[in-house]
This record gives sequence, structure tokens and C-alpha cells, in this order.
Amino acid sequence: MQTITTIKNSKNKTPLSVITAYDALFASLFDKKVDMILVGDSLNMSFSKQPDTLSASMEIMIYHTKAVCKGAKDTFIICDMPFGTYTDEKIALKNASKVYAQTSAHAVKIEGGVERAHIIKALTQNSIAVVGHIGLLPQFVRVEGGYKIKGKNEKEAIKLIEDAKAVEEAGAFCLVIEGVKSEVAKRITKAVNIPTIGIGCGNVTDGQVLVWSDMLGFFEEFQPKFVKKYLDGATLVKDAIDRYVKDVKDRTFPAKEHTY
Ligand code: KIV
Repeated sequence: MQTITTIKNSKNKTPLSVITAYDALFASLFDKKVDMILVGDSLNMSFSKQPDTLSASMEIMIYHTKAVCKGAKDTFIICDMPFGTYTDEKIALKNASKVYAQTSAHAVKIEGGVERAHIIKALTQNSIAVVGHIGLLPQFVRVEGGYKIKGKNEKEAIKLIEDAKAVEEAGAFCLVIEGVKSEVAKRITKAVNIPTIGIGCGNVTDGQVLVWSDMLGFFEEFQPKFVKKYLDGATLVKDAIDRYVKDVKDRTFPAKEHTY
């Protein structure tokens, strides 16, 4: 199982594989296979069908993190800090402490760069391991008027590199980079000594993360360009349900072997 030290030492070595999980059942299928599991606030969209991640609460994240920790006892687990739960150092420390006190997650994740460095510092100085998250920030969707790819010009590239350095300097042991032009993600990865985990950044980071329901084909509403579908989960489930309903209607289920 990975630890903060082994994750940090993986910089420039074998890429880290990360997947999201929201429940014990799927987490147990991912356990011991991936390097890290992220209980992402993306669960608010893919699990609860909300329009964005903003209404995820600390209670919701702790509930799902507890379940994931039960399912994946041998995998490093990160809990996303939801919107509005780390607005200043005191609030962040109170909420992140709840994650450590109430679940067995190994780290928390926080969105934001330079402007959030003081929050990351407050947590890491109080023995809470932090994963940073820069680039396209889903918790900023309303102020930014949508999900915008970052690093499209030199000014944005410089800002992103400053963000990454500030997050590292504040004590984060790992950094998620989301929705950033590949050549800029490469520059960010070179600029810091902590491993970078990309999503929608191309094959230039120290690892990759995907949302489980996207990569296993259960989320049907849209498929971003950066997602590779490893399974057509939705079709498989719907076919199975059709067969079950037909068997019930035809009285071919339950058969003798399913009967006491
Ligand atoms: O919430 C989430 O799933 C995430 C990943 C997209 C990195 O933050």
C-alpha cells in the first residue's frame, strides 16, 4: 500500500494510478489495484445528479469516505474537502480534523493555488496530509461561468506554475492538475518536486486520475474528450435488467436451482 513517502518518491518514476470511488462496493473492487482512491466531490454530480459539486457537504463527504475506507482497506484514500468548508484556516482545520477523526482516510484534497496556500499550510502544520488541486477548479464553476480549460496563454501558464509552487511550498505532498493544456501541465510537473496527477492534461504528469463512473461507462450524460471508457457499464447493466424483467414476466426466474 502506498504511503505519503512512497507517493512523494514516485516523482519521475512509475506513473501513479488514481480513481475515484464513492461507496464500499466499488471501492472493494478497486482495492489493492490502484495507487490511490479519491472520494471526489464529483460524487455530487455522478452519484446524486446535481448540476455541479457545490452542494456537497462535509457530512456527505464523510459518509461516503467512511464507506470507501470500509471497502478499500489496503489503498491510500483521499477525501475531497467540499465547497465552503475551508474558507479560512480555523474552519479548514475544524473540518479536515473531522475527516481524520471520523474516517480512516489518509489525506484531504483542496482546490486552489496561491490564494489557498495559507489554508494548506495550516493543515499540514497540524499533521493533516494535503493533496493540492489546480487548473480547472470545479468548485469555481459559477464564478468562472463554466468549466474552462486552463493554460491557454503564457499569462495563465505562469499563474499555474506559481500556484503549483505555492501549494508545494505550503506542504502538500501531491498535486492534482485538472483541465490544463498538456505543454503547460508538463512545465508545472517539471517545476515542482511533488508528484502531479493529471486529469485532462495529457500524458505528461506523474500520474493520472479518472472518475470511476466515467471510465467504466456508467455516467451517460456526456463523455469528456479526456475520458477513456474501459467498460460499457451502463449498457451491461441495462441489458442485465432487461433480462431479469423478462425472466420474471416469463416465470423463468426463479428456476428450480434458485428455490428452497
Ligand atoms: O471530485 C473529483 O472527482 C475530482 C477529480 C476530478 C480530480 O476532484
